[in-house]
Amino acid sequence: MTRPPEQPRSPASAPMLGVMCGDFCRRAHALVPRIAADRVDPGVVSELASLRDLWRSMSGAERAVAADAARTLAAAQGRGPRTRSAAIVAERREPPLAAAAEGTMPILPVDDDAAARRALSGLDRVAVEGVSERRYSGERDPDALLAFFGLDRFRAGQREAVAAALAGRDSLVVMPTGGGKSLCYQLPGIASDDLTIVVSPLIALMADQCRRLRLGGHPVAMIASGMEADAAARAVADVRSGRARIVLCSPERFASAGFLAALGQRRVDLFAVDEAHCVSEWGHDFRPDYLRLRGVIDRLGSPPVMASTATATEQVSREICERLGLRTPHILRAGFDRPNLSFDVIRLQGTGSKARKKMLLTITLSDPDMRPAIVYCGTRREVEEVCELLCSEGLLAVGYHAGMPADERASAQHRFMEGDAEIVAATTAFGMGVDKADVRAVVHWAIPTSVEGYYQEVGRAGRDGLPARAVLLSSRSDLGRLINFIKDDTVEPADVSAYVHRLTLQTGAAGRHVERGAVGKVVIDTPTSDRDRVCLGIAERAGLCSLEVAPGGRLAVSLRDDGNAGHLLSICREARDRAWRAYAAIAAFSGESDTCRRRALLDHFGDRRAAAPQGRCCDVCDPDTIGLPDPASLSVSRSRTDGGPADAPSVAPADEALLEELRQWRLRASDGKPAYTIAHNKTLEAIAALRPQTLEELTQVRGVGAAFVERHAASVLALVRRFATI
Ligand SMILES: Nc1ncnc2c1ncn2[C@@H]1O[C@H](COP(=O)(O)OP(=O)(O)OP(=O)(O)O)[C@@H](O)[C@H]1O
Ligand SMILES: [Mg+2]
Ligand SMILES: [Zn+2]
Repeated sequence: MTRPPEQPRSPASAPMLGVMCGDFCRRAHALVPRIAADRVDPGVVSELASLRDLWRSMSGAERAVAADAARTLAAAQGRGPRTRSAAIVAERREPPLAAAAEGTMPILPVDDDAAARRALSGLDRVAVEGVSERRYSGERDPDALLAFFGLDRFRAGQREAVAAALAGRDSLVVMPTGGGKSLCYQLPGIASDDLTIVVSPLIALMADQCRRLRLGGHPVAMIASGMEADAAARAVADVRSGRARIVLCSPERFASAGFLAALGQRRVDLFAVDEAHCVSEWGHDFRPDYLRLRGVIDRLGSPPVMASTATATEQVSREICERLGLRTPHILRAGFDRPNLSFDVIRLQGTGSKARKKMLLTITLSDPDMRPAIVYCGTRREVEEVCELLCSEGLLAVGYHAGMPADERASAQHRFMEGDAEIVAATTAFGMGVDKADVRAVVHWAIPTSVEGYYQEVGRAGRDGLPARAVLLSSRSDLGRLINFIKDDTVEPADVSAYVHRLTLQTGAAGRHVERGAVGKVVIDTPTSDRDRVCLGIAERAGLCSLEVAPGGRLAVSLRDDGNAGHLLSICREARDRAWRAYAAIAAFSGESDTCRRRALLDHFGDRRAAAPQGRCCDVCDPDTIGLPDPASLSVSRSRTDGGPADAPSVAPADEALLEELRQWRLRASDGKPAYTIAHNKTLEAIAALRPQTLEELTQVRGVGAAFVERHAASVLALVRRFATI
């Protein structure tokens, strides 16, 4: 991967560097108390925008110097108070639409509401109101619609999907992440005055789609919790009056009589269910509200249905078709190849592999061509660790995991989407609904749990069609962790029986004489633990219960006692075998291989088509890793050469700037402790003179011992390497 033209660091540019950084730091620190006082004050908002522009214009070295100020600013944004009205809405725990339209809405948890508000704030900042509306009045023809949309050509599978919808046929669209599923229902959606309903599980995803469609002038409405009352009422009115050709909504909206009444005023020519695997409990994204959709489709007079998903397994596909009641659907499996992605698996094993992994990560992400980037981690602790590591390098990284408060999480996502943070370190909780077109790299810090998960995650890269990298840092020690996950998650028939027994106790029917077969009904919250969810899914399959959606996004479970024990055992075995098969597949993919990685992925998804990379394919086909450091050069060796530690030669004037950077680094790393506890001046001077490029070279420097290598080698080497390119 080529670097942008190097910026020579001439003596004349050095004072400039100081001026820009100084300006940024001063203004950032001055802004922090103002954000704390009122985050939405127009003066604060415009100063923030101006600082963002300034940050974007700064070089890597300048950003490194100003990183502390940027972090302080970022933290202040995460902490700042919500607007008064938002706080009131959150306290009421009730979406404003409920008050505006009708009283039957489910009460949403505060978290969802806050997240909705953050997502919607993206909408508020774009002046979509001023865009003049464009209504398509041409032929119901895929190519004409595509041209009206302003695009040149269809991606694989899109034309067929659009044609099926235009012909009024049900379809199941299976395309890889980033493959372009939205277009498949958006084009039919704008084709006529009739209404296309798009159901989507995430407000952020909807808000983003709505904003893009509106910017294109397309008549679209969106209805979600967390919207201002008048905006929601306007959206319902646009649906009722026929002004909107597409309405985006979350599934719980169908609990609202007012919304259903508005829909009843329209002829519906397409009912699109995005992320349709949410209807299946086999997937990890099960949303009970999706179970409601079949009834809604019937009630709307059975319009054509398009279900779209990136989950490719036959089982999930079957379940989607059954649960949404698709009628002889056209099943469209687009090719799973993502030609602009290149795949690298870098194996790390043995002593010092953690230190090498850290170096690989920081060196990789120090390359501006690799950013924006997502680093997927295996645990919340790893997210924090990686985020800290990257920030200590002066890289602007944010963390994202489900254990963070909703506001902080939304703020991290927002900052990454807006480009304030160039890297997000995240668990798999970060993903669905993230459509950031220019992500250049997805790095896996940990081996993911399945090839499906891996492919979905790397699918976040290169959605703009430009070259992007998928880099899997494959520590073999991760495999033990995955094995433990499977062991912990294995569900035995006794676990399912115990779970069902717990539910039976809740019905109050235990021990009471009831009609044969039926035990009773209980309404529960959707299980939050994976284990309970799996137990419930297995119980349903084994005929021990049936599920229906209940108001408020809860589940009504009807229990039966005539399930078949043999059947239960075989379903539990099937679940366990599936987990081990998933393990075997990812263990093989992440290991040493002489098979093309792309081919291995396509084979995994049953896609027999020839792989057609646009550029570099993978580490097997093109062993030159281009831009990534060679892991072999990072071997940790604490032995010294015969000549003993290298003495610091006198530092040439040209190294003064590097020495200054190293001092700055030491200041940050010491975190208030005396500087010498990190490294002596002599050591820094030697590093500035020798400019070590590898661990081997670094360990030759006097004063660099095992503890220094463990804690600081990655950051120092990255700093020296980065400096070499300035
Ligand atoms: N034919 C096309 N030409 C150019 N760009 C396209 C085309 N189709 C889709 N895109 C762009 O590709 C990106 C990804 O599309 P989209 O969000 O629909 O993917 P997706 O399949 O829904 O992925 P996910 O599984 O993550 O939801 C979007 O930015 C979209 O604008
Ligand atoms: Mg999508
Ligand atoms: Zn290859």
